[in-house]
Amino acid sequence: MTTLAPIGATPQPGSTTKKSFGKTPDGQPVDLYVLTNKSGAEASITNYGGAVVSLKVPDRTGKLADVVLGYDTADGYVNDKSYFGALVGRYGNRIAHAQFVLDGKTYTLAKNNGENTLHGGVKGFNKALWTAKILPAKDGQSLELSYLSKDGEEGFPGNLKVSVIYTLTDTNALRIVYSATTDKKTVLNLTSHGYFNLAGQGSGDILGHLLTIQADKFTPVDAALIPTGELRDVAGTPFDFRKPTAIGVRIDQDDEQLKLGGGYDHNYVLRPGVQFYTGNFLDGKTPGKGGVAYLRRNAFCLETQHYPDSPNQPKFPSVVLNPGEHYHTITTYKFSVEK
Ligand code: GLA
Repeated sequence: MTTLAPIGATPQPGSTTKKSFGKTPDGQPVDLYVLTNKSGAEASITNYGGAVVSLKVPDRTGKLADVVLGYDTADGYVNDKSYFGALVGRYGNRIAHAQFVLDGKTYTLAKNNGENTLHGGVKGFNKALWTAKILPAKDGQSLELSYLSKDGEEGFPGNLKVSVIYTLTDTNALRIVYSATTDKKTVLNLTSHGYFNLAGQGSGDILGHLLTIQADKFTPVDAALIPTGELRDVAGTPFDFRKPTAIGVRIDQDDEQLKLGGGYDHNYVLRPGVQFYTGNFLDGKTPGKGGVAYLRRNAFCLETQHYPDSPNQPKFPSVVLNPGEHYHTITTYKFSVEK
């Protein structure tokens, strides 16, 4: 059962509490929701950008660690350029030359990454104030965030109604259910930009983390990190994570694709895709939680998504959403320990 505890109370297992997290630049209050599951794991989520601010899960001795990078106050998220924990929309990753064509009409988008659009444009969903509602959930604690992205926002067509339901399950999974509808034909690719460090945020790099990605292919990129259109076999390359492999063992190999990304910053081909990003752009300049400087490769991201630049790549799966259709995707990050 979800109960709303008084502000300031210590979170109890099996509860969701709400507290103040600061203000937006134009003075609107920003909240932080603390979801505590029955086993004591805790996810804190803000309605500013829908960001997961902290995620405390147990290690093998039962000790909790906060496994995501983030900031202590709303200000950090207002100023953030790394998309820490944020909901990303309308289009996760890059759209080349900040434009695409739908039914013969060219749509011009906001440019925020050289000539290209990254993660929705200058003011993506990560900079929006979402409407939050605590929902009853059978298997944990749930928070629904809703946002109306107006026709023409950042250049995208259609009034888009988006709902994201976060559930921290009692078995230590963070489930994210994305839904959306539009009143005009549009393109859509929602994701979550969690930066994970399973040893705890602020504990150094993630090069020793073992990673498995069950993908036979990835999408190589050009110098602007736009896919070339090729689907390349991972076999025989440093991109092969089909067996558990430490993230760092091949990351600095003399490989054209690793050089272009400054490490891993590539989409893996699943149904649909996942961007594996090793925090190559983190430079420690913006202090994170507890004043920690997050340095290069101090976290990794697994952004479930459609392939980057799909609106301009006819061979990639379609990202078109039509009026009357219901966009619906689910991503689950499950945390467990080997004893
Ligand atoms: C994605 C991109 C990266 C970078 C980060 C945010 O992972 O692929 O190139 O822009 O987001 O910093």
